[in-house]
Amino acid sequence: MRILERLDQLAALGDRIGYSPEEDAAHELASGWFREAGLAVEVDAAGNLIGLVPGGERQVWTGSHLDTVPRAGRFDGTLGVLAGIEAVERLGTSGLGVVVFRDEERGCAGSRGCTARPDAYVEVHIEQGPTLLRTDAPLGVVTAIVGYLRGTRTFAGTPGHAGTTPMDAREDALVEAAEFVLHAREVARGIDGAVATVGKVTVEPGGTNVIPGRVVVSVDARAPDAERLGRLADALEIEEAIRTEPSPMSEEIRAALRAEVEALGVPVLELPSGAGHDAGILASAGIPSGMLFVRSLNGGVSHNPAELSSPEDIALAVDALTGTLRRLAA
Ligand code: HGY
Ligand code: MN
Ligand code: MN
Repeated sequence: MRILERLDQLAALGDRIGYSPEEDAAHELASGWFREAGLAVEVDAAGNLIGLVPGGERQVWTGSHLDTVPRAGRFDGTLGVLAGIEAVERLGTSGLGVVVFRDEERGCAGSRGCTARPDAYVEVHIEQGPTLLRTDAPLGVVTAIVGYLRGTRTFAGTPGHAGTTPMDAREDALVEAAEFVLHAREVARGIDGAVATVGKVTVEPGGTNVIPGRVVVSVDARAPDAERLGRLADALEIEEAIRTEPSPMSEEIRAALRAEVEALGVPVLELPSGAGHDAGILASAGIPSGMLFVRSLNGGVSHNPAELSSPEDIALAVDALTGTLRRLAA
């Protein structure tokens, strides 16, 4: 299966942080595949790679991203780009395009900066969760993409000697940060459908025998709607938070995806996305967007090398995407 061979080639590049030489190399590989598919290749001002079938009144794009988180899995982002190339190559319809957005993982810089805009966008992505696995469905049609806040919280203390400073005379910034981590967990647990994560902690000065004087923690908090996102923002007081509103997917594209999944004779399941995606940025910019999830195996784990989808489910996703693009491009 060509997609699996190409996944191997991308995996061989290792981690690909946004705008890194490794992400550049992945875009280089993809532009070669675009040319093999007979697409006209261009790079926009934000560094997004776009492969187009020339002509056509309506621009209907598919695609995803090729950057990764540290120690990532092989399918996050790559599946959408490779499935997109297969589907567009099969159809060859004027106006179809495949896009590779830059730097999705650190905040969607590429899709936020995208200058060229399609009339419609459909993204295939591994689910990155356990829902399709638990319901024994190979594919899922996304209803909406979660809203999220990203930022930091900073805690100030007084650096001091770990051995001579009495416990009741300390201002330990890391203890305060630890209390915040537990607070964030309780806040999220108290809001239905909300999640909150502290994934990165920077401790200064960072000596094993020095009481921490300054700690900066990352905060990633998400909720299915604006009201609950607001409650998270109020409770967590994130510094300079980047807020991305929840984005509903296009009814027209959801209907097209449902029809194509149904035509494959597999269950039609609809579900929200707890992960952020470029499709959410495009939808928020007013571009009708849709997403098709591919079942995650291994318990749904993602942002982890154990992330996995099966060749059978991937083949079904390419078929459903092809049919959906055919409908939208008609
Ligand atoms: O973090 C996310 O939701 C996505 O994987 N960028
Ligand atoms: Mn992704
Ligand atoms: Mn990701």
